[in-house]
Amino acid sequence: MRKILVTSALPYANGSIHLGHLVEYIQTDIWVRFKKMQGNEVYYVCADDTHGTPIMLRAEKEGITPEVLIKKVHVEHSKDFLDFFVNFDNFYSTNSSENLKLSQDVYKKLKQNEKIYTKTIEQFYDPAKKMFLPDRFIKGECPKCHAKDQYGDSCEVCGATYTPTELINPTSSVSGSVPIKKETEHYFFKLSECESFLKEWTLSGTLQQEAANKMNEWFKSGLADWDISRDAPYFGFEIPDAPGKYFYVWLDAPIGYMASFKKLCDDKKINFDEFWNSDSKTELYHFIGKDILYFHALFWPATLKFSGFRTPTKIFAHGFLTVNAEKMSKSRGTFITARSYLDHIKNPDYLRYYYAAKLNSTMEDIDLNLDDFLSRVNSDLVGKFINIASRTSGFIHKYFDGKLYLDDTKTGTEHISITQKCKDIEGDVKTYFESREYGRAVREIMRIADITNEYVNTKAPWILAKNEEQQKQGSDLHIICSRSLESFRRLAIYLTPILPKLTQDIAHFFNEKEFKLFSDLNKKNITVNEYQHILTRIEKKDIDMMIESNKESLNQNTEASKESELDKSIISIDDFIKIDLRVALIKDASFVEGSDSLLKLSLDLNDGRLRQVFAGIKSKYAPEKLIGKLTVMVVNLKPRQMKFGLSEGMVLAARDQSEGPFILYPDQGAKPGMRIK
Ligand code: 2FM
Ligand code: ZN
Repeated sequence: MRKILVTSALPYANGSIHLGHLVEYIQTDIWVRFKKMQGNEVYYVCADDTHGTPIMLRAEKEGITPEVLIKKVHVEHSKDFLDFFVNFDNFYSTNSSENLKLSQDVYKKLKQNEKIYTKTIEQFYDPAKKMFLPDRFIKGECPKCHAKDQYGDSCEVCGATYTPTELINPTSSVSGSVPIKKETEHYFFKLSECESFLKEWTLSGTLQQEAANKMNEWFKSGLADWDISRDAPYFGFEIPDAPGKYFYVWLDAPIGYMASFKKLCDDKKINFDEFWNSDSKTELYHFIGKDILYFHALFWPATLKFSGFRTPTKIFAHGFLTVNAEKMSKSRGTFITARSYLDHIKNPDYLRYYYAAKLNSTMEDIDLNLDDFLSRVNSDLVGKFINIASRTSGFIHKYFDGKLYLDDTKTGTEHISITQKCKDIEGDVKTYFESREYGRAVREIMRIADITNEYVNTKAPWILAKNEEQQKQGSDLHIICSRSLESFRRLAIYLTPILPKLTQDIAHFFNEKEFKLFSDLNKKNITVNEYQHILTRIEKKDIDMMIESNKESLNQNTEASKESELDKSIISIDDFIKIDLRVALIKDASFVEGSDSLLKLSLDLNDGRLRQVFAGIKSKYAPEKLIGKLTVMVVNLKPRQMKFGLSEGMVLAARDQSEGPFILYPDQGAKPGMRIK
C-alpha cells in the first residue's frame, strides 16, 4: 500500500470558482479517487490562497476586512467543491496558524542555510495611497509598441514583457495618481544558487517532457534570485525580525499545502513528518496549471530542499480551458462559474465525464465545445451506458427475484465472452487512470458499453420474455440479462472515479452502499433492485440559458462584474415583489410524449381560466398523484413556447443536484388564487 499526498493549486480567495478552475480540481479528484479505490492511503488537500494586495484592496473596496472577505469566499468555494464532488480531505486557508508557523519555520531554515539576503531596490509607490504598487496595479503605455493602458509587467497587444519602470506615463490603478519611484529594502531567496540541485531534480523524472523542456529554457536564460518580501500595507504574514515586511504571497501559498495537511494530521492523528521529512518514503504530487509551473518547478522544490523538507515526487501540469474553441469570455457568456453551471445544468457528473473524456497527461489546452458536450453526454452516458440497465433489469426484477445468474459452468461461451471482454480492459483502464490518460480510459469503457448493447440488441430479451419457459431460472433470458447487468456493474466500477454520484446511484440499484474499491469487481452474488430512472438527458435549453445568464453587456459596470456569485444573488425587496406567486390547484397532470423529464400540468388559480405549465418533475411524481393537490405557481413569468406547447408559468419545487425535485405544497387552509407575499 502506497502513502500518497496529493494537492491541487490553491484558488485565490477573491473570485468565484469557474469551469476553468474545475478542469484541475476534477482532474485531480479523479486521480485521487482512483488511487483510493486501489486501496492506497491517499490524502488530498487544498486551501484558499488568501494573501496579497488584490485581496487586501478588494476587501477595502467592499468595506470589510480581508479576514471577513476570505471567510465569505471560503464558504462559497467549499460549497462549490462539495457540489462538484471534489472530495478534499481538507480544504483549508493559507491564513491559518499552521501556515504562519510553517512559513516562518521554512524562512528561518532558509536563512540558517544562507539562502536569504536583503537588497535595496527601487519600486513604484503610490503617494496618494501610501503603498508600493504591484506590477498589475500600474498601467501605462507599452515601451515597445506604444499601446495605451497596458499593465506594468506585460503588454497585451504586442506581448512584450518589461519592468513597470519602463512603462511610459505610468498611473496607479489604485488611486489614479502618478506613481513615484522609491527605494525600499527587500528580502531575496538565492535561487541562482539552486541551479545544480534543480537540474538534477528535473532530470529525475519529476516533470512531463514539455515542462522539462520549459525548465531547460529557464536554465539557459539563467535563474534570477527571488524577491520574497513585500512592504506594508500588505495582507499576509510578517517576516520574523523584519517589522513592516511581509512574505510575498507566493512564498506562503505553497506552504499552504503543508499547512492544510498539518491540520488534517492533527485532526486525524496522521504522522505529518512521515510525509514531509527530507528522507520521506511517501509520495507527493502537485496538480497545477501550466501558467504556474515556474513557481512549482523552480521556487517550490528549491524552497523545500534548502529548508530541510522532502521535494515533490511529481508535478502534473495541465493546459487551459477554452469554451467553443475560444478563451472564456464574459461578453460571449462563456465565462461560466461553477455555481451557474449547477444552477442550470444541475448534474456535475456531466461535466466530470466530459472533462475526463477530453483529458490526457499533456499540457495541451482542452476545449469544452458545448454542442459536443450535450451530444457526448447524452449519447455515451444515457444512450449507451445507462441504456444497458434500463433494457435488461426489468426482467431480472420481474421474473428472477432480482438475482443475477452468473454460473459459468451452465452458461454458453458466447455469453461468458461478454463478461470476459469487460474483464479484459481492467488492466488498461487502470494504467490509463494512473497515467492521467482519462480520455483513453473513457474510450475503452464506452467500447465495451457498445459491445454489451450490441449483445442485448442481438439477443432481444424483450422477445424472449414473451415465452413462459424463458421466465424460469437459468433460462437464456436470465443469462442474457444477468451478463449485461454484470457488465454494467463492472463498467460502473471503472467509471467510479469519474462519476461518483451516478455510480453511487448505480451501487444502490445493485443493493450496495457504494463502489469503494476495485476489489468490489470480484463480488459474486449480485442482485438488483427495481430500476428507477438514474440519469436524464442534458437539454439544449439549459445550456442556452446558462450562456444567456452569463452574458455581460459591454457597458455593464466592471466593478460589479468582479463581484462573487454570492453578491450577485442578492436582490432588493422591490425585485422580490415583482414575482407574482399564487396558490394553484392542480386540476390535471399528464405525461408529455417525447420528454424524459416533463409533466404537463393544468393549474387553476380561481380566476376563470386554466393555465398550462410544463414542469420538470417527471422523475419524482406520477401524474395521478398530483391531481387535486395545491401548489405554488409563478404566475407572471413570460410564457415560453416549448416543443410540446406553451408553458405559462412555473411551479415551485426544491432540488439540488443529487435530490429532488420536491414540489412545494401550501399549508392547510390555503385556497387556489391566494397570493404569496
Ligand atoms: O495561480 C493561482 O491561482 C494561485 N492562487 C495558485 C497557488 S498554488 C500554490 F502554490 F499555492
Ligand atoms: Zn506593446
